[in-house]
Amino acid sequence: MSAANERHRDRTSSFESPAYVRAFLRHRRIAASALRFWVDSVARLLPIVPSRADVLDACCGPGRLTIPIAEALGSSTRVFGVDRSRAMIAQCRELARSLPVRSVTACQCDILTYQHEPGFDVILVSEALHAFDELGPLLYKLRVLLRQGGSLIIRSPSHAQLKQIEWLQAFDGLLAHDCARTPDTAVIEKALTENGFVEIHSDAVDESTVYATKEDYVEPLIDRAYSILERLTNEELELGASQLASNMQDGSIRHTFGTTRTIARKDSKE
Ligand SMILES: C[S@@+](CC[C@H](N)C(=O)[O-])C[C@H]1O[C@@H](n2cnc3c(N)ncnc32)[C@H](O)[C@@H]1O
Repeated sequence: MSAANERHRDRTSSFESPAYVRAFLRHRRIAASALRFWVDSVARLLPIVPSRADVLDACCGPGRLTIPIAEALGSSTRVFGVDRSRAMIAQCRELARSLPVRSVTACQCDILTYQHEPGFDVILVSEALHAFDELGPLLYKLRVLLRQGGSLIIRSPSHAQLKQIEWLQAFDGLLAHDCARTPDTAVIEKALTENGFVEIHSDAVDESTVYATKEDYVEPLIDRAYSILERLTNEELELGASQLASNMQDGSIRHTFGTTRTIARKDSKE
């Protein structure tokens, strides 16, 4: 594998795998309080009297946020989920079918080529920036997809927040890889400015979860529910996970996880 391909291995391959999608849905639940926070973040940025608002969950994955957002906003808001992965979109469509309102449209498409008229009122991008080689083309495209005065919300861990994840440190070199593929908050803000966004601000969100046992904590790793784990062989993963488990006390474990919310607006005069 060439150096460039090696660098991008965990940016692409696992998202297409049905096993990864199942592991992601099973193990990567967003804590209830954090979910409320993100749903409210979207709701607050919608126009005050929308006759009909349009929201885009860009790189929506299996719909972990798309579906609760659609549920909370009701039928006056159309929610679109776009993801390049066939397996992710299939899962998102299945979850959408369980909703009482038919307000979700899930589309399998590369976000960089996706088209939608008229522009969106709010676009959310959650835990997906690490999948892009460069932020510029993505942010440029998202600004095109927004209506004038529309808002972009980014949910992404800062490097300081990645450093607080205990299990990342249990595997040699994994934290460094995650920092290398994930843009830090200052980099995101600079790229937003360079791509014409205004009123940019960021704040940290505590999304920590409490696991009942150390097995619950280690199971998502063994099931490879995190794409960064693609960098490890089975042997490396099993060794690291068993060391992690043996260092832990029995009983409940707090998984420290934080993200940063960055909000930016497309100028209303554009
Ligand atoms: C870690 S998942 C996050 C999913 C979802 N946003 C969430 O927070 O649950 C990253 C997603 O980005 C998608 N993705 C990566 N590059 C993409 C692209 N160019 N266009 C559309 N989706 C993309 C992947 O297929 C994957 O589903």
